Amino acid sequence: MAVTFETKGTDSQTISPVRLVLSNVVSIWLAHWTIILPVLFVTRLLYKRYASPLRRYPGPWLASVSRLWKVLSTASTNTHLQHIELHRKYGRVVRIAPDEVSISSPEAARLVLSAGKHFYKTDFYGVFPPPENPDIFTEVREHVHAQKKKVANVPYSMAAMQQLSPFINDAVELLMTKLSTIAGGQAHDARGPEVDLGAWLHYFAFDVLGEVAFSRSFGFLEQGRDVENAIKTIDNSQRYNGIVGQVPELDYLLRRNPLWKFIPALDTKNALITRMALEELGRRKPFDKESEGRWRGGDGRQDLLASLIKGHLKDPEKFAEGDVFAVAHGAIFAGSDSTASTMQSFFWQVLHDRRIYEKLVSEIDTAVANGTIPPTGNVSWSEGQNLPYFQACLRESMRVRPAVGLNITRIVPPEGAELDGIFFPGGTKVAVNGWVTHRDKATFGEDADIYRPERWTEDEERSRRMDRYMVQFGGGAHVCIGRNLALLEINKVLPRLLRDFRFSLVHPDRQLNAHATFFVVQEGLDVFIEKRV
Ligand code: HEM
Repeated sequence: MAVTFETKGTDSQTISPVRLVLSNVVSIWLAHWTIILPVLFVTRLLYKRYASPLRRYPGPWLASVSRLWKVLSTASTNTHLQHIELHRKYGRVVRIAPDEVSISSPEAARLVLSAGKHFYKTDFYGVFPPPENPDIFTEVREHVHAQKKKVANVPYSMAAMQQLSPFINDAVELLMTKLSTIAGGQAHDARGPEVDLGAWLHYFAFDVLGEVAFSRSFGFLEQGRDVENAIKTIDNSQRYNGIVGQVPELDYLLRRNPLWKFIPALDTKNALITRMALEELGRRKPFDKESEGRWRGGDGRQDLLASLIKGHLKDPEKFAEGDVFAVAHGAIFAGSDSTASTMQSFFWQVLHDRRIYEKLVSEIDTAVANGTIPPTGNVSWSEGQNLPYFQACLRESMRVRPAVGLNITRIVPPEGAELDGIFFPGGTKVAVNGWVTHRDKATFGEDADIYRPERWTEDEERSRRMDRYMVQFGGGAHVCIGRNLALLEINKVLPRLLRDFRFSLVHPDRQLNAHATFFVVQEGLDVFIEKRV
């Protein structure tokens, strides 16, 4: 029905009811927007808080109405510790965002991370660069991820990694030389000169990746410093990714905003690593089956880049040239801080308890005496496997201080799923954090909060059971692709360091300075160092 009315000096006019309603709404809005806006805002908050199927789960109030709680928690860089506290306070399921819960049950975590259960990655990962050509870590389209991972799995197999062992050995050798020089230098303490062991382990992890991915060293060990601030740049970038990843839409206003490029201080492109990856890619062109992706002027090794080029040549449709770059480049970002953090945690935990340190050194000495490991030179992967207490210390470090500090979050499949005896509707985000699940007393023992390597050696059956619930490398279709490489280098370098040097903490009463960006970046592993052989 139309409304007819007279206007002065004109004929009667007809206004449609839609226009009438609209004009009323606009005038009400203009007159009362200062009241309407807050009312809408509060209604939205209350809706999120009370109308959501997650309303019955406890947690911080802010988290139930907004993702701001997650942003603040991530920005604090203490989110891993906050999650431990949250579960202590609220129980096994905690609401950490309007549409997200964190779970502490290792059984549920295992299910969420299992292959074939259809819990997929959230858009958090899409923020990690490069958005235009996602790599294995950042690709959230599961079928595309599966295609890429199939190609990338080949060079990451333990057999392929073992072939690159000589180049890892070179990096170990260089680390030993550098530390020997430091240990032989002037000391102000009877326990030897001081050294930032954490920094050297970080340089080592980087240089190994350069060798394995591009057959080139980044030069961190050689120069004994963070060359071109590459480590710092990665950390800054990860901090940004971690925070903005909680509200991924923000990325379009920030890093994906074309104006961002004009603020040099905000540019997180890693010059050294990107340049080296591009140079190396250029050197190997044109790609052909004959060279199998290797640089014709090189030592003929089948490095990660070569294997990826080979995979690209086999099926350029499924694994494009951009994927070769993205996956090789992404390996440096995913593999450096993670491996360094694991080794730093190991040393800090072991050195923090002299009983454990002495027991470990005694195992190494006995192994040398009975020929299990050589008295000098490199320790091989299989020799490292014959050191049960060392293996227990390593596992316990990855349990108590896993390298990933942010939650690993997945989406419940559309049909919903039961976790820890509770049904969650499809679309719910479920977060898992190793810092929480690895402290579950029913799984890891009443003393799960403390570092006690013996828990892994007391009972084989129990040790196997605990191992099933460790998520330090994630799980399922997204299990860490670089875990063979990481474990190989760790098993080579740590026993050798313990055999060749004696260490003690400079500040035994201080905690290791740990910031969770995505990985737990650690600083302050200052030690006294003495040569043993
Ligand atoms: C001790 C060292 C390492 C630890 C503790 C570690 C841990 C993890 C974890 C927990 C994930 C799963 C993340 C998630 O689902 O959100 C992951 C994935 C990944 N890691 Fe590692 N990582 C380590 C070393 C490496 C290395 C050396 C590389 C490469 C050279 C690497 C490359 C990757 C990639 C590409 C992914 C994504 C896998 C996928 O989504 O399919 N990591 N890592």
